Amino acid sequence: MSEQIDNLLHEVRRFPPSAEFVANAVAQPEIYAEAKADRLAFWATQARELLHWHKPFTRTLDWSEAPVAKWFDDGELNVAYNCLDRHVLAGNGDRVALYWEGEPGDTATFTYAELTAEVKRAANVLIKHGIESGDRVAIYMPMIPEAVIAMLAIARVGAVHSVVFGGFSADSLRSRIDDAQAKIVVTADGGWRKGKVFPLKPTVDAALAADPTGTGAPSTVEHVLVVKRGDNDVTWKAGRDLWWHEELASVDAEHVALGFPAEHPLFILYTSGTTGRPKGILHTSGGYLTQSAFTHKNVFDLHPESDVYWCTADVGWITGHTYVVYAPLANGATQLLFEGTPDSPHPGRWWELIEKYKVTILYTAPTAIRSFMKLGRQIPEKFDLSSIRVLGSVGEPINPEAWIWYHDVIGGGKAPILDTWWQTETGAIMVAALPGISTLKPGSAQVPIPGIDLEIIDEHGVIQPHNSGGLLVIAEPWPSMLRGIWGDPERFKETYWEKFGAKYFAGDGARYDHDGDVWLLGRVDDVMNVSGHRLSTAEIESSLVSNQMVAESAVVGAADETTGQSVVAFVILKSSHIGDMSEADAVALLRKHVSDQIGAIARPSRIYIVAELPKTRSGKIMRRLLQDVAEGREIGDTQTLTDTTVLQTISAQVRGD
Ligand code: WT7
Repeated sequence: MSEQIDNLLHEVRRFPPSAEFVANAVAQPEIYAEAKADRLAFWATQARELLHWHKPFTRTLDWSEAPVAKWFDDGELNVAYNCLDRHVLAGNGDRVALYWEGEPGDTATFTYAELTAEVKRAANVLIKHGIESGDRVAIYMPMIPEAVIAMLAIARVGAVHSVVFGGFSADSLRSRIDDAQAKIVVTADGGWRKGKVFPLKPTVDAALAADPTGTGAPSTVEHVLVVKRGDNDVTWKAGRDLWWHEELASVDAEHVALGFPAEHPLFILYTSGTTGRPKGILHTSGGYLTQSAFTHKNVFDLHPESDVYWCTADVGWITGHTYVVYAPLANGATQLLFEGTPDSPHPGRWWELIEKYKVTILYTAPTAIRSFMKLGRQIPEKFDLSSIRVLGSVGEPINPEAWIWYHDVIGGGKAPILDTWWQTETGAIMVAALPGISTLKPGSAQVPIPGIDLEIIDEHGVIQPHNSGGLLVIAEPWPSMLRGIWGDPERFKETYWEKFGAKYFAGDGARYDHDGDVWLLGRVDDVMNVSGHRLSTAEIESSLVSNQMVAESAVVGAADETTGQSVVAFVILKSSHIGDMSEADAVALLRKHVSDQIGAIARPSRIYIVAELPKTRSGKIMRRLLQDVAEGREIGDTQTLTDTTVLQTISAQVRGD
């Protein structure tokens, strides 16, 4: 790893902005000095310029209850009004908000006026069914316009959404519903994926029928709102289940958006941590929307009247929340929303869409770029991608080779690439160059955005000099920061604030190069990054041991050329189950078990059935050494192990000796 990083830091290619780009750039170089001179005044200006306030704020930051920040807290706004009505009132009602393309090629277009009308009706449906300010509503949907409409309708009435990615299992959905005590679930009968309908409603039914506590207690869900999308057969629970289209038709078209306090909760989004239980990251309204809109406009150089923006993330992840729903709509952008996958029905599908909709800004993940690289440039070269002028990357470091390919093949050798570092917890982009100002450096996320106070420090909190590495922390509160973990203030403090006091500990390693630019080096905790998605080793381990055959397990993330990391599990079977079936069958069964319990994204790519796991004298499993084995690397320091032969045996097994 460290050799790889040294090579990376010797990356010498530089990409200054073109004169043409500079001439029309949204962000001007003074922005850095302005933010530096008075950070809080800078954010207050952004909040006033980018958003509509029902009641203007007079206070910018209140950190007296640290680590729970309050931004703009005496102001009031309505997040959905900011994303919809105000654009219509400003005369932009006819501007396209969403171009939607379904996987089978069906399409729909929503102008800002049309989207506003839909959201007003959906808000009235929520009210009709008893949703009040502060209530939680779960969303479990494919990438269809109704997902965006549902999120905005929930925000509009001051309720709190909890979007659960449509690939998660019934168990995962239920635990999130229970944790947030959701009253309604919005779902669809099914969605389209790789030429087939995948059912969603049956998973919701299973989640709600389950009895996780063994007490027979029902879930808190009173209604399930179902969008008709897949046309697949669904079972219906009268009184509980409601068709979205029937409900929307039954309510009033008008709905007046009220202002809510800036710190009113907007959403909960669950993400994996270092323990088995996902944590519900809580975001609020005014600060979140300010930083979201600011970064979207400045990092992607958004010109809302002419750009067509496309972020390929699913709304089930934070990238989808911030850069598909809230930021683009707050900025009045025109965007593409796509239900399908990159390779169905053909491997040029994305490029076909870019040509068709004349997409100008594309925001995607390195894992996608690397899989396109593997397929070869002849596929994108068949399409006209000349509309592209800005490219974004998120989820994991973009290696220079992928950067150059993205730049040359997709960006026509001219579009700047913005590598954006941030997290579910940070709410919006924290580290990224600004196009039109920065000279780009492939592989480096480069600099914090204006108004963000980032440091790289060592274990003792000492700020690192140039050419050194350490841990990434954020030294001052920022507008879109998480306000807590739902229902667990202690875990919030322990996870992020115990290590360095008032500085937020992100969990990532990072390094300054000789210019002081930031390079991200991956997680320093037991969190894996697979295709830009965050997975917890502990969560997958606990899923494995919940299978009756398994005595013990250890999970590691092993480097993978395409997905960044892949999930590799080492499993000890209970002696009573050894010989129940062939090893290959046991592996297949356990892979399916994890997929059923958590979701397909967590399914281990490899499982090794082993006799013992390498442990220290105090009984701790040495995952670092297992990672060496899984990556086929020379094994690190084994001095603390009780028995080094255990590792040799596993190594031989992995090599296939
Ligand atoms: C973790 C956060 C933010 C949306 C996607 C993932 C890694 C994210 C980058 C980047 C290097 C990155 C970090 C971070 N990460 N973006 N540009 N360069 N690493 O959100 O699931 O909350 O995961 O993703 O390790 O901590 P998430």
